Amino acid sequence: MAVGGKHASTKLLILFLLVLVLGLALLADFFWASTSPFSHYSRFSSDPSTNRRVVTTVHSSTKGSADQPKQKIKIDRSQKTSASQELNATFADLPARYLEWEEMAEAPVPRLDGAAIQIKNLLYVFAGYGTIDYVHSHVDIYNFTDNTWGGRFAMPKEMANSHLGMATDGRYIYAVTGQFGPQCRGPTARNFVLDTQTTKWSDLPSLPVPRYAPATQLWRGRLHVMGGSKEDRHEPGLEHWSLAVKDGKALEKEWRKEIPIPRGGPHRSCIVVKDQLFVIGGQEGDFMAKPGSPIFKCSRRKEVVYGDVYMLDDEMKWKQLPPMPKPDSHIEFAWVVVNNTIVIVGGTTEKHPVTNKMILVGEVFGFNLEKLEWSVIGRMPFRIKTTLAGFWEGWLYFTSGQRDRGPADPSPKQVVGSMWRTKLRL
Ligand SMILES: *[C@@H]1O[C@H](CO)[C@@H](O)[C@H](O)[C@H]1NC(C)=O
Ligand SMILES: *[C@@H]1O[C@H](CO)[C@@H](O)[C@H](O)[C@H]1NC(C)=O
Ligand SMILES: *[C@@H]1O[C@H](CO)[C@@H](O)[C@H](O)[C@H]1NC(C)=O
Repeated sequence: MAVGGKHASTKLLILFLLVLVLGLALLADFFWASTSPFSHYSRFSSDPSTNRRVVTTVHSSTKGSADQPKQKIKIDRSQKTSASQELNATFADLPARYLEWEEMAEAPVPRLDGAAIQIKNLLYVFAGYGTIDYVHSHVDIYNFTDNTWGGRFAMPKEMANSHLGMATDGRYIYAVTGQFGPQCRGPTARNFVLDTQTTKWSDLPSLPVPRYAPATQLWRGRLHVMGGSKEDRHEPGLEHWSLAVKDGKALEKEWRKEIPIPRGGPHRSCIVVKDQLFVIGGQEGDFMAKPGSPIFKCSRRKEVVYGDVYMLDDEMKWKQLPPMPKPDSHIEFAWVVVNNTIVIVGGTTEKHPVTNKMILVGEVFGFNLEKLEWSVIGRMPFRIKTTLAGFWEGWLYFTSGQRDRGPADPSPKQVVGSMWRTKLRL
């Protein structure tokens, strides 16, 4: 008995030690995984075949099954499970019908955070980052009639190179404020007007203070500028100003204060349809210059992305309308209006809750202004932010922006100049 008892307790001790060693090993693995900046990258994206859940969406191009794509789920149980792996990287994608996209001529340069205005069959594309250290200071034009790029001309040297606000009356293009220079440099309050018939630029009175990517639109003879980020690039501004303009000229010397917008921040769509002004989506917070960095190196800060929709009408009081199907930002020039529907392509949504990586949007959304209802119109060829959209003779176009790392990884990678189109049916 005594011998047997001793043998049993030795066995127990060995078992205990084994459990201890195993526990420590697991703990070490956990700490490594939660502290290494690369661990999530390798888990979620570098080798999709090792992801525990591989989900393939089988798209259907028929209308009937449009909103209910069939999903084939393959679960590889050979991998260790952990809470962080439960959430696939593409969890933010919404079911969407397959749209047939055609790749068109590529823009002369790649662009991120550029601006665009469509006037009839021409898409004027302005400014933007080429790389984080290089910004453009010119305009390229895409002709929707013959689907070619051409007509490059310079912007004023003092004009912002990204994060501009922009609007048109059909001939003159008003370009306000924005970031001057690469990385996360400071903003300018300078504003300009382009006469698209002569390609001549002129000045407009400066804003009271500069902004990054404010919501901007022409409404009832006045140029409205609101929200955006304040001078530090991060803090949301709520201020709203307007300036009377006509035929490319300011009718006043100073900007007038208007009713502040309930929620501030940059990168929103701002659209006037049927005499109502809409401000859609956006975010609070943005990358900021690293303190003391001589090159104003961008460093990431907390951002909150939202899908709020605000509207101003006769009453001049903000009204809130149904939000987008998911939070969406970086959509300032990613919209068109077709048949009383606001169409928005791509953007960014809330960051991944586990990896904290930025998540791009790969859906086309529609806001029916009669029903005040949002829908997912379809899927883009990839996810992309700050894309520049146009619509011509039944075709929805988008160009430029920063696209994802591939179907399984919605975080941003390459800045592109590619141009795509799809036949739009609403
Ligand atoms: C990813 O995971 C989420 C939540 O677990 C799920 O709702 C979603 O359908 C998944 N996405 C894909 C593309 O499988
Ligand atoms: C656009 O293309 C059409 C067809 O080639 C051409 O007639 C028109 O002049 C072009 N417009 C501009 C501004 O280049
Ligand atoms: C817009 O409405 C017109 C007239 O009903 C229709 O012919 C056209 O196809 C519609 N356009 C889109 C993009 O759905």
